[in-house]
Order: sequence, then structure tokens, then C-alpha cells
Amino acid sequence: MAKITFITQDNDTITAEATTGTVMELAVDNGVQGIDGDCGGVCSCATCHVHVRPEDFEKTGGPNDIEKDMLELDDEVSEYSRLTCQLDVSEALDGIILKVAH
Ligand code: FES
Repeated sequence: MAKITFITQDNDTITAEATTGTVMELAVDNGVQGIDGDCGGVCSCATCHVHVRPEDFEKTGGPNDIEKDMLELDDEVSEYSRLTCQLDVSEALDGIILKVAH
């Protein structure tokens, strides 16, 4: 079980928990504004982009190669960017805070 907090562009805070699936699915299921998951989680839309809180980046790790290519096309990319469809929910992510990028 992992509890994950999302902060939207409007500064709404939504905390949701899950045991399986991806962080993108968790956000969509909980109506997190700005996480759309348009491509269904195949890393080709970047509508699931977040900035990981710097102190949590060790828990998420950095983007994979396909994800990096996708993020390069996004103007809002930061050194803490991740695409949440590429992040599987696991206990290691418990307590992390993610700022929605769009
Ligand atoms: S849902 Fe499309 S890139 Fe993540």
C-alpha cells in the first residue's frame, strides 16, 4: 500500500492510496486535475507529467530512456520530472508528493 499526494496547478491537494497499478491510473481514478493519461499509459502523450518533490526523487528514481525522449518535447520539463504512467505503485513510493506539471 502506498499513499501518494498530488498537488494540482490550482494548489488542490489530493492524497490517494493504492497497492497496484501505475501512479497515472491512481491519479485518473481519483480525478486529479491535469493528469489525463491520454495515451493510456504507453508513454506517448506526456499528459501524466509531474515534478517529484526533490526530497522524494530518490524514491522514484529518474526517467527511463523512452520517458526521457518524451519529456524532452515538454517545455515544463525539470530535473525532477517523471511521467506517472511509468511509475508503478509500490510501498517504496509511500508518502511521496508530486506536483502536477500542467
Ligand atoms: S499517460 Fe501518456 S505518457 Fe503517460
